[in-house]
Amino acid sequence: MTEESLKELLRDMSLKEKVGQMMQLDSSCFSNEGPVTGPAAELSVDPEDFNLAGSILGVVGAEAIEKLQKLCMEKQPHHIPVLFMADIINGYRTIFPIPLALGCSFEDEAARTVGDVMARESAAAGLHVTFAPMVDLVRDARWGRIMESTGEDPYLNSRMAAAMVRGIQGETESYEGHLGACAKHFAAYGAPAAGREYNTVELSERTLREDYLPAYQAAIEAGAAMMMTSFNTLDRIPATGNKWLMQDILRAEMGFEGVLISDWNAIGELITHGVAEGKKEAARQAAEAGVDMDMMSGCYMAKLCGLAEEGLIPEDIIDTAVWRILVLKNRMGLFENPFREAGKPAEQERVMTKENRDKAREVAAQTMVLLKNEENFLPLDREEDVVFIGPYMEEKNILGAWSFFGNPEEAVTLKEGILKKKPDAQFARGCEVLNPGQTVYGFRFNAESLCSEPEADEMIAGAVKLAKGKHKVVLALGESNLQTGEGGSRGDITIPDIQKKLFRAVCEVNENVAVILFAGRPLDIREINEKAKSILYAWMPGTEGGNAAADILFGDTVPQAKLAMSLPYCAAQAPVHYAQLRTGRHTRDGEDIKNRFLSKYQDIPNLPLYPFGYGMGYTDFAVGEVILSSGQLVSGEGIRASVTVENTGDREGTETIQLYITDECASCARPVRELKGYKRVLLMPGEKREVSFTITEDMLRFYNKDMEYQAEKGKFMVWIGTDSLTENGEKFELV
Ligand code: GLC
Repeated sequence: MTEESLKELLRDMSLKEKVGQMMQLDSSCFSNEGPVTGPAAELSVDPEDFNLAGSILGVVGAEAIEKLQKLCMEKQPHHIPVLFMADIINGYRTIFPIPLALGCSFEDEAARTVGDVMARESAAAGLHVTFAPMVDLVRDARWGRIMESTGEDPYLNSRMAAAMVRGIQGETESYEGHLGACAKHFAAYGAPAAGREYNTVELSERTLREDYLPAYQAAIEAGAAMMMTSFNTLDRIPATGNKWLMQDILRAEMGFEGVLISDWNAIGELITHGVAEGKKEAARQAAEAGVDMDMMSGCYMAKLCGLAEEGLIPEDIIDTAVWRILVLKNRMGLFENPFREAGKPAEQERVMTKENRDKAREVAAQTMVLLKNEENFLPLDREEDVVFIGPYMEEKNILGAWSFFGNPEEAVTLKEGILKKKPDAQFARGCEVLNPGQTVYGFRFNAESLCSEPEADEMIAGAVKLAKGKHKVVLALGESNLQTGEGGSRGDITIPDIQKKLFRAVCEVNENVAVILFAGRPLDIREINEKAKSILYAWMPGTEGGNAAADILFGDTVPQAKLAMSLPYCAAQAPVHYAQLRTGRHTRDGEDIKNRFLSKYQDIPNLPLYPFGYGMGYTDFAVGEVILSSGQLVSGEGIRASVTVENTGDREGTETIQLYITDECASCARPVRELKGYKRVLLMPGEKREVSFTITEDMLRFYNKDMEYQAEKGKFMVWIGTDSLTENGEKFELV
C-alpha cells in the first residue's frame, strides 16, 4: 500500500477502530469455547470487540493463523490485517542453546544463525514478529531470566543483540522469509534488586546509560521493528508509564521509530505499582509515555476512546501510535498478503530439517564452556573404561525455559549422543533431577520428583556400584529447566541436594570424575569444583545438545566457549561481574589479607570462582606481549594494538582474544576495565598468528561528571588476553 493510501486509511478509521489497533490479545481470547474466562475476562473489554485487535500473540501454525486472520479481517470495518506475534527466543521447533549459552560463543555469526533459522521456521508457521532478542544486561545469577540474556557485559550484549536482530529480520526491507524483531525489555529489567523477579530496579542514570542502554541501542541500530516495555520501575517510575524513559530517551535520544509494545498487562500493573488509581489513569500514563500497543491489559480498549473524547489525551497520540502500527504491517506486505509466509512452503518442509539440526549441533558445541580439565581428563577415548551417571544423561528438558514450541521429545539426550560414539557405554541414573517429593511450578506444566527417599537411596547405591573400580566416571548433573526462566529467581543457586548426595557418593568410590552441568544460570559449583577433575558447562543446549556434548566429550569437536557471565563463588557475591567500579579501598583477592579495612568480605573472596571471558580448549595458547603502533592516541585517529597468538599444544583450537581498556583517571569513578573488542582465531598445533585491534577515541567515551558522553585526555591501559583477568597490558595516552 502506498503511504498516501495508508494515510487515507488512517483518516477513514473511527476512533474505536484506531484504539483496536493498539490492543494485543492472547490467542485464548479467540477460543470461542463458551464464556470468556481467565485473563480475557479481566480485560474489561466487550468480547465483541476482541475482533478489533490489531495484534494477537501466542498463536502459531499456518492453519490456525490463517483462520484467525480471516475471522478478524472480516469483522474489522476496514479489514486491516492482524499482526501475529509469539515468543521465539532460541528456536521455534529446532531449538538452539539458550541465549546465555549463545553469549558464551563470542561468535556473532552463531547468534545471527540462531535468529535466521528460528525466523525461517516460524515464518513458515505464519508468524510475523517474535518477542526477541531479549537484550537486558544481567549480572545477578539469582534472577531466573538470566538464561534469556547474553550476559554481564554491555559490549558483548550489544554485538549479540545486533547479530540476533539481523538474523531474525533477514536482509530485506519486508523481512521476507523472516520475522520482525521485538527487542526487550526496555529498560534494565535485568537488574532487579536482590535478583528477585519483577522487583524494583535502582540504578543511577549514569549506570543506566553506561551499562544497560547500549544493547538496546545496538538492537535499534540493527533495525529492530519493535521494542517492549519492562515490568520494573526505574527511579521509582514504572517503565511502562515512564515518559522520560520512553519519549526523551528511547525515542528522542536513541532514535527508535518503531512500534513500542507493553509487556503482558504491564499497563494494568501501573495500578498495582500504586501509580495509577484505575485503568483510565493507567491508560493515560502509558499513552502519554508513547506506548503504542497494549499487551493483554485491556486498558487501552476500555479507556482510551473516553480519554480522547474527554480531551484528557490529544487524539494525535492515538494517531501516532496507529500510524506506527500500520506502517509496520504495510512494511511486511500484510495488506497485500495477510497470510505472508504461512504454509509456503509447508511448515513441515522448513522445520527440524537436517540442515537446521546440524546448525543447532554446531552452535551448541560453540557454547559449552570447559572450566577445568586436570590430567587431560577429556577428551575420552572410545575404548576407555568409563561409565556415565546422572539424571541429565537421559533428561530431555534441555531446551530452555522459553522453548514453548519446541518438543523435548525431539531433543537428543546426552545418553543418546554417547551411545552413538560408544555403543557399549554403561549408564546409571543415580537420582532424579529434583529432590524426593520436590515440585517446581511452571507455566503450562510442573517439574516434580515422584521418587521416595528409600528409592532415591537405592538409585544412588546402584550408581556407586557401577562407579566403583572404573577408570573414569562422567556425571551429568544440573538444575531443573523450570528452576530458571520467568519467575525462576532462586536464593540457593546450587544443584538440588539429591544430586549433591549422588556426587559425594560417587566421589567417595572414584576420584576420577568429570561433571557436565546443565543449567540456565551460573551456579554455585564450589564443591564440584573441588572434587571433579573436569567440568564442562553445557547450559541448556537445545535439541541437539546431547550430540554436541558427546562431540566434545569424545573430542570430535573441541570446546571453544568463554564465560559470558562470571561464575560466582556463591550467591552472596551476586551481583558479581568483572567490570566493577574502583573504590577508595579496592583490592583483588589475596592481597593484604590481614588488613580488614579494604573493600572485601571476611569469609568469601571478591573474585568469582571463574571469571568473565574464561574458558578452556583441548590445547594451550601463548599470547605475546601487547605491541602498540604508538603510545599516544591523537583525538580522531587510532592506534593499533597487536599480540601474537600461538597454539602451543598438540590439537587444533579456537581461542577468543579479548581486548579490555582501563581508564586510569577520569572525572568519574570508572570500571577497573571494560571489554572493547574480541576476535576468535582458529590455530593448528604450532601455528602462530598476529591478532590486532584498533583502539579509537570512541572506545574511551563515557558519561562524565556533567553527563556528557565523551572521552577525557589522560592515561589508559590496554589489556589483551584470553579472559577478563589478563595482566598482559600496555599503557597509552589520549592526547
Ligand atoms: C512475558 C514476558 C515477555 C514475553 C511476554 C509474552 O511476561 O515478560 O518477555 O514476551 O510475556 O509472552
